[in-house]
Amino acid sequence: MRKNIVAGNWKMNKTLQEGLNLATELNAALADTKLNCDVVIGTPFIHLASVAASIDTKVIGVAAQNCADKESGAYTGEISAAMVKSTGADYVILGHSERREYYGETSEKLNSKVALALANGLIPIYCCGEALEVRNADEQNAYVKNQLEETVFNLSTDDFSKIVIAYEPIWAIGTGVTASTEQAQEMLAFIRGLIAYQFGKDMAENTSILYGGSCNAKNAAELFAQPDIDGGLIGGASLKVADFKAIIDAF
Ligand code: PGA
Repeated sequence: MRKNIVAGNWKMNKTLQEGLNLATELNAALADTKLNCDVVIGTPFIHLASVAASIDTKVIGVAAQNCADKESGAYTGEISAAMVKSTGADYVILGHSERREYYGETSEKLNSKVALALANGLIPIYCCGEALEVRNADEQNAYVKNQLEETVFNLSTDDFSKIVIAYEPIWAIGTGVTASTEQAQEMLAFIRGLIAYQFGKDMAENTSILYGGSCNAKNAAELFAQPDIDGGLIGGASLKVADFKAIIDAF
């Protein structure tokens, strides 16, 4: 059975102290609550160890927002998957459009990152999604299919069974423009169909596929009610406990 997941992506926000406050407040807000989804927070690298140590990681999983495409060595400023894992984090967001767009992350690099994440016991939350020009040309399906075929569709069945997919149309990220429920459901159903074709129906049924892009307390319930939407990757609305909790409660 696939899991429902609400994952926060803090991006480059919050100092260490602010991040610790946010994480511990969320932890307190979720304590003794019956949750209908897994909850994950994606913090900056330097927050990971302190956040993981100050919350109940059985209730809130911790994610990095990236990891290196190399195992170890002379790569100044990089953080390896093994280092991420050693902080107590269990997830890593990979292939976010901001990483692809601003930091030149190619499918080739992402293949190394996904492989290293898996080899180190991290669960990749693998992002895909098209830009506005692609959507306007009605080429989003082919675009997303290609993104998946160049990367995670090359994984073994065993490895693919460990990953989470997040569809985030770039035109909806941080813009306040959410994909309509129909657009999100249609794309996630399409992705599930691709997984079925590639890995079989059981794998498709068991893969968690998230929607991301201006998901908030107001639209989460309608999005999560769709048959193929298994949760959300939440940017802006994950930075305030009340907003993020309302999204978690939408399940
Ligand atoms: P947003 O970001 O919720 O602020 O649109 C989502 C994301 O980029 O993961």
